[in-house]
Amino acid sequence: MPGNFFTSLFGKREQLSSFSELATDMHSHFIPGIDDGCKNMDESLSLIRSMAELGFRKLITTPHIMSDYFKNTNTIITEGLLKLREKLAAEFIHIELEAAAEYYLDDVFLTLLNKGDLLTFGREKYLLLEVSYINYPENFNNMIFDILVKGYTPVLAHPERYPFWSARFEEFKKLKDMGVLFQLNITSLSGYYGPDIKRTAEKLAANNMIDFLGSDVHHEKHMMALRKSLNSKTLSELVKGNLLNKKL
Ligand SMILES: [Fe+2]
Repeated sequence: MPGNFFTSLFGKREQLSSFSELATDMHSHFIPGIDDGCKNMDESLSLIRSMAELGFRKLITTPHIMSDYFKNTNTIITEGLLKLREKLAAEFIHIELEAAAEYYLDDVFLTLLNKGDLLTFGREKYLLLEVSYINYPENFNNMIFDILVKGYTPVLAHPERYPFWSARFEEFKKLKDMGVLFQLNITSLSGYYGPDIKRTAEKLAANNMIDFLGSDVHHEKHMMALRKSLNSKTLSELVKGNLLNKKL
């Protein structure tokens, strides 16, 4: 068809060639040896070099803080950040690097919240949160209320990955009405986590419910999925919109 031929030649690109328009990634596990992300400095440098090549200019890396598995503290994360920055400079990898954390909502989190001892990002004191994929977090609403009262802005990491919310889509709307922002994993759009999660990701995007995009890169397989995600038309539409990544 001539029409299609000319559209493909001269029409708007529906796919992205890089992440340069997004510019900032706010969810990853690049500090080596402190969670289930990068195992050593070489892996961290290799993955961060790939992020720069993909067009990212700033990374806010977010190690897990989870009382049962990853007993990270602000000091551990800050020291890891400073070492990683030094190595990036020595290797001439030009990218801005900051750190916050991905908080699992448990008792340790509540203690830190009460002390006001949390690592946030952005002017709005964005707080990246995760919960169990298996058990519905019974006290979630109370925790969100406490977070908001203390002046933080809750950002739920990868909402599309929680089956108990995905199965009842209206629950997502309730979370947003409470003031919870949503961070979609970019790789969900590539099908990395399977077709159900991809479908939920696309539905959240179609309903204008996405506030942030994050890579959530832990290792090279995630990086491969991130590259593959550039083919996603949904990603291209999201990046053209008003994502908060652009204000970080
Ligand atoms: Fe993560």
